[in-house]
Amino acid sequence: MCGIVGYVGKRSCTDVLMNALSKLEYRGYDSAGIAVFENGKIRVEKSKGRLADLADKMEKTGRPEGHAGIGHTRWATHGEPSDKNSHPHSGADVTLVHNGIIENYKKLREFLINQGNTFTSETDTEVVAKLISYYYKGDPVEAIIAATKELQGSYALGIVFKDYVDTVFAVRCESPLIVGIGKDESYIASDVPAILNYTKDYYLLEPGEIAVLNPYGAKIYDHHYQCIEKELKTADWDMDAAEKQGYEHFMLKEIHEQPTAIKTTIMPRISDGLPNLEECGITYDKLLRYNKVFVVACGTAMHAGVVGKYVIEKLARVPVTVDIASEFRYRDPLVGEGDLVIIISQSGETADSLAALRLSKDRGADTLAIVNAKGSSIAREADMLIYTHAGPEIAVASTKAYMVQIAVMYLLAFEIALAKKVIDEDEGKRLIKELEAVPDVIQKILEEKPDTQFAASKLINTDSLLYIGRGLDYALSMEGSLKLKEISYIHSESYAAGELKHGTISLISDSMPVIAVVTQPDLALKTVSNIKEVKARGAYVILVCSDNIQVDEEAYDYKLTVPAVDSLLMPMTAVVPLQLIAYYTSVLRGNDVDKPRNLAKSVTVE
Ligand code: G6P
Repeated sequence: MCGIVGYVGKRSCTDVLMNALSKLEYRGYDSAGIAVFENGKIRVEKSKGRLADLADKMEKTGRPEGHAGIGHTRWATHGEPSDKNSHPHSGADVTLVHNGIIENYKKLREFLINQGNTFTSETDTEVVAKLISYYYKGDPVEAIIAATKELQGSYALGIVFKDYVDTVFAVRCESPLIVGIGKDESYIASDVPAILNYTKDYYLLEPGEIAVLNPYGAKIYDHHYQCIEKELKTADWDMDAAEKQGYEHFMLKEIHEQPTAIKTTIMPRISDGLPNLEECGITYDKLLRYNKVFVVACGTAMHAGVVGKYVIEKLARVPVTVDIASEFRYRDPLVGEGDLVIIISQSGETADSLAALRLSKDRGADTLAIVNAKGSSIAREADMLIYTHAGPEIAVASTKAYMVQIAVMYLLAFEIALAKKVIDEDEGKRLIKELEAVPDVIQKILEEKPDTQFAASKLINTDSLLYIGRGLDYALSMEGSLKLKEISYIHSESYAAGELKHGTISLISDSMPVIAVVTQPDLALKTVSNIKEVKARGAYVILVCSDNIQVDEEAYDYKLTVPAVDSLLMPMTAVVPLQLIAYYTSVLRGNDVDKPRNLAKSVTVE
């Protein structure tokens, strides 16, 4: 989604803004722009397309020269991607950039037109610029407070006023924003990686707080215009973590980081060979109270929830419902006291997941967040919190974040099963040992480099394919299919293998390949029968299976094996070839692997 940056200091503002924006490219965008104070006046440069297009444009017009300004990458919501809809947008006295959605923008726009304003774009953002200008009587903070009182929806804003040269203002509600502090310079950014090149110290702006950055530092006010002291935080990510380090793409680097990410996530939560989640606020007493568990999330995080469902139900015998957050929040769910709602989110800012969390809390359920981004809204608002320690995930297609999300779901499943005494300590210790061994198995798979490129070469010219599996293999197929879709732009669906006969098998022909996942020994024979059915109808079958399962050679065309671990844990290892198939298919089709079209890394609007 959109990215915001801002800078005040001694450096070339254009250089800083362009560099900082480049670190936010991973969020997904379709246009970019900056506003810089040049010789005391605000100069705006913006362009549809990538940052490179903006840079090219500025080569022709001359790069703005100055030491303070704001910048933006836009992911279109109101109005198509175009030069005129790109941010920054201006009112009479104000120029600004915006993340989020202003829900009441139409009403405000009518009001402002009646006041004599004319609009040059179709965006909700231009309304905000003109509204702040409307309220501006010489004091920017007063104008921001008055205007934001009228806004409904979500926003983070970076603002410059033409009368306040070399000063940058910022305010947020829902959409995240940080204020970075360097030596004689300050920054705003929608995400930490944007400013890691310059500083690791930052304030997390809370909803309603207003930041004023000038060459002497940054001041923060609450929405009553009282100056407030805030805790300075230090990012524990370094720049290396946000660089490619020799890999061709972030996605490939992040796939290779999975063994370390699992260890960093699970090891602090294991003591005496058993899970220990007390530090996260999770105790046996609490777990014993829950009769029902909901897992609510979006995209890949939701797929981690599906794996969690299978494992919690199988081990702990507690019913688990997995919900897509955008459905859950509007379906009047039967959730309340005595229920546990688990929200899984890499970014911790996904609008629908955050709304689902708030709804669950309002209805009296206990909430547990499994989140990667430190200090994010979901992390702060949940009753209990387990941070995953994947480090920054830059590729839009999630890999290592999924891996650590499922690692945490295993810990949680073991813990619930132990609390409910469905398994004893010996079994708990055995399962933990198996989990601890997984990173080395994944490392081995990565070192041995399964020939996923060959599998990918069989898919690049297809229009559509199916992923099939049963049980945990079906849960995994969902993620394999999503990964491929996201970055290869090939249509694919995941199907429960046993359901194929009830309609979907009619699609099978020699032009529809099938990727079959078979890692669960107790279900293997059943799935293999389904595989034979699609093979008999002409499908090219790529089999992904564990090395303890024998499948007749005539059932498949190409086989990728992964070493067997405990069958419950197989999704952790078997997902690796699926991630690599998606990756290489995207590479072979010449796509932008890390920044697939139309997608955003962090979806902060509904
Ligand atoms: C977007 C991303 C996905 C991600 C989903 C949920 O769609 O492109 O990769 O799985 O949002 O994001 P979250 O940050 O809540 O995990």
